[in-house]
Amino acid sequence: MECIEIRGGKPLYGTVKLQGSKNAVLPMLAGCILHPGVSRLEHCPRIRDVQDSIRLLEALGCRVWWEGSCLAVDASRICTWKIPEEIGARMRSSILFLGALLGRLGKACLPYPGGCVLGARPIDLHLEGLRKLGARIEESASCIRAEGERLRGTEISLRFPSVGATENILLAAVLADGETVIRNAAREPEIGELCRFLQEKGADIRILPEGEIIIRGSARLQDSRHELAADRIVAGTYLLAGAVTGGRVTVERMPFSHMEAVCEVLKETGIKLEKNGASLTADGSGGYCGIELLETAPYPGFPTDLQSPMMTLLSTARGTSRIRENIFESRFKIARQLQRMGADITLTGREAIICGIPKLRGAEVEAFELRGAAALVLAGLQAGGVTKISGYRYIYRGYEQIFESLKELGADIRQEPVSQRRAAFVKGLPEQAGTQSVTAKG
Ligand code: EPZ
Repeated sequence: MECIEIRGGKPLYGTVKLQGSKNAVLPMLAGCILHPGVSRLEHCPRIRDVQDSIRLLEALGCRVWWEGSCLAVDASRICTWKIPEEIGARMRSSILFLGALLGRLGKACLPYPGGCVLGARPIDLHLEGLRKLGARIEESASCIRAEGERLRGTEISLRFPSVGATENILLAAVLADGETVIRNAAREPEIGELCRFLQEKGADIRILPEGEIIIRGSARLQDSRHELAADRIVAGTYLLAGAVTGGRVTVERMPFSHMEAVCEVLKETGIKLEKNGASLTADGSGGYCGIELLETAPYPGFPTDLQSPMMTLLSTARGTSRIRENIFESRFKIARQLQRMGADITLTGREAIICGIPKLRGAEVEAFELRGAAALVLAGLQAGGVTKISGYRYIYRGYEQIFESLKELGADIRQEPVSQRRAAFVKGLPEQAGTQSVTAKG
C-alpha cells in the first residue's frame, strides 16, 4: 500500500501561511447554487474536498474556474437536481447540497454522504429541519429524494447544535417564504462565516447572541465575492507540529478570536506562545506537560477536530493526561496506531488516559481519516527513526500542500511518486504535495 516515510526527531523551525478554512468553504460551495450568477471565494484552499465539490458543482451544470487563489462559481444554469453517487458519497459536505438544491430548484436527489468515519454520523437533524420547512423527503437504501416547491419559514429547535444541520437549514431557508428561526444553532465560526457569505449575496440573516439565527426568505440574491477566514484547525495543527518537535513554528493570519479554547489548552501544557500582530509562534523547546482533563465540546469549547493531534502531543508530554471526546463516539482510532509507536494510552469508552513518554518510536502505522492522518504525521515528526504512514492521502482532504510546508520547516518526509492517473485527477490545479514525487529536504 502507498505510504509516506518520515524520519523524525528534528525540531521544526519557520513560518507557515494559513490556508482558507475547509469547513467554512464547503457549505459556501453548496450555497453558490442558490444564486443564478457568479460567486467568488478568495483564499479558497486547494484541497481534495474542494476538488470533489468542484466536480459536484460541474455535474449540476455550474461553470467553475480559478482566478489565482480565488475560486469562481457560475451557477446560472443548473441542469439537474441529481447528485452523482460516485461524487456525493465521497464527502460529508455533499449533504449540504440537499438544502441548497431544495432552495434553488425545489427538488433534490443525492446519495448518503461519505466523509470521515468517526461514528454513525446520522443526518436525522438535517432531515427533521428540512421537513419542518415543508420539504417532502423519502429515504431509500441508496439515496435521499426531496421535493418542496415553496418552502415555508418556521421555528426549528435543534436537539443538538449540529454544524451540518444548522448549515443545511440555513441554505434551504434563504429562499423560503417568510421567516425561519433556528434555535440551539451551532455557533462554530464556520456558521457565522456562512451567514456572512449569504448576507453578501443579499440574504436577510441575523445571529442573536444566545445562538438563535433568524432568516427572512428573500427572492433575489446577487453576485458576490467572499474573503475566506483562515483555517483554525490547520492553524492548531501547525502550532502542535512546532511544539511536539521541540521547535518554533510561527503561523501567520491566525484566526485568534476562533482559537481561544485551543490557545488556553496549549498554554496549560506549558508550550510557550508568542503573539506578534496577526501571527502566533509556538515554541516547544522547553517541553510540555500533560493536562488533567481535555474535553471536546461544541464551539466555543475545544474543537473535536484537534483532539487527535492533541493526543499525539500528550503522548509525549511530561505526566499523565485524560481526554474525553464528547462529539464523535468513534474518534479514538488513532490511539491504536500511536500505541504501535510506543504511546501509553488506555481507552475506556469516550475517555483516554495517556501516560506521556519522552519519545515515540518510528513504526509502520495506518491512517483511517483526515485528522487521524494529521496526528500520525505529527507523531512521525516527533518519533526517533522512520515512521511509515499508509492511508496518508486522507490528509489531502483538508490540508493544502502540507508535506511541502513541513519540509520547508525542516521535516524529512519522503513520498512515493503518485501514478499519472491520480495526477490527472488533480485537473489542472497546481500539483499538491502527494501528487508529485518530492524528496526530503536537505
Ligand atoms: C462538521 O461535521 C465538520 N465537518 C467536522 O469536521 C467537525 O468535526 C464537526 O462539524 C463538529 O465540529 C464539516 O464541516 C465538513 P455535526 P458535521 O453535525 O456537520 C451528531 C473535519 O475533520 N449528529 O456537528 O458532521 C453527530 O453524529 C470534520 O474537518 C446527529 O446526531 O458535525 C455527531 O455526534 C470531521 N444527527 C455530532 O452530532 C445529525 O443529523 C456533531 O455532528 C447530525 C449530527
